[in-house]
Amino acid sequence: MPEQQWNSALYEKRHAFVFGYGQGLVELLAPQADEVILDLGCGTGQLTYQIAQSGARVIGLDHSETMLATARQNYPELRFVQGNATSFALDEKFDAVFSNAVLHWVTEAAAAAKCIAAALKPGGRFVAEFGGRGNVSNIIEATQMVLRQYTGHDVPHGWYYPSIGEYSSLLESCGLEVTQAWLFDRPTPLEGEAGMRNWLTMFAERMFVELNAAQKEEALTEIEMYLRESNYDGGQWYADYRRLRLLSIKQGSIAVSGS
Ligand code: BEZ
Repeated sequence: MPEQQWNSALYEKRHAFVFGYGQGLVELLAPQADEVILDLGCGTGQLTYQIAQSGARVIGLDHSETMLATARQNYPELRFVQGNATSFALDEKFDAVFSNAVLHWVTEAAAAAKCIAAALKPGGRFVAEFGGRGNVSNIIEATQMVLRQYTGHDVPHGWYYPSIGEYSSLLESCGLEVTQAWLFDRPTPLEGEAGMRNWLTMFAERMFVELNAAQKEEALTEIEMYLRESNYDGGQWYADYRRLRLLSIKQGSIAVSGS
């Protein structure tokens, strides 16, 4: 499957809800002034900045140089580094690893979980939210149904949407204890009459690679037509997001002062 390409300007303009919703996750993280925190998949840096407001020292890590360039421009006082969720190894250990709306892009989930566990201090926490089991299922179903007419086969969507059980087992196998987990629907408004088309163009581009430009336009119109039944209400498009949110703690002894 081709790699997702990111347009940081469009992402900031049309998809600001991604970091808007992330604010609740920062509350679950509850960053403290003396902590060192890694923002895994920091994108354009808005949540990295918000975490830094607590006084914690935060490093933002992202795979995309385009996103990092915008993050550095937005917040020149913060540190942003390039790295891949499945292979990163930084010099220091963290009190917490935070990740919002990123891990559904990481199909090599076991490799990412290993890196996250290795990056944490004993007792350190991993706080994450991303698409969970059933995420955007209407969008996927309509897109695959329409694309099948052009390609003759089921086009893979390429995202990773685990259940609570599946992801918790994975984290436990890496020495992280899951203390809280939620799977919940979050229908997410998309901006404007072209909201669904823009979402598909921005995030599902990889599914359309076998189509030429004219076929793509035609397919998008047909997908919109199907989704109008399920994902359009009162003049507003919605993405049928389903979030997996969890808090986990790295096992191992923590130094207790005075002991
Ligand atoms: C999500 O946040 O759930 C998501 C975003 C883009 C593509 C797929 C899922």
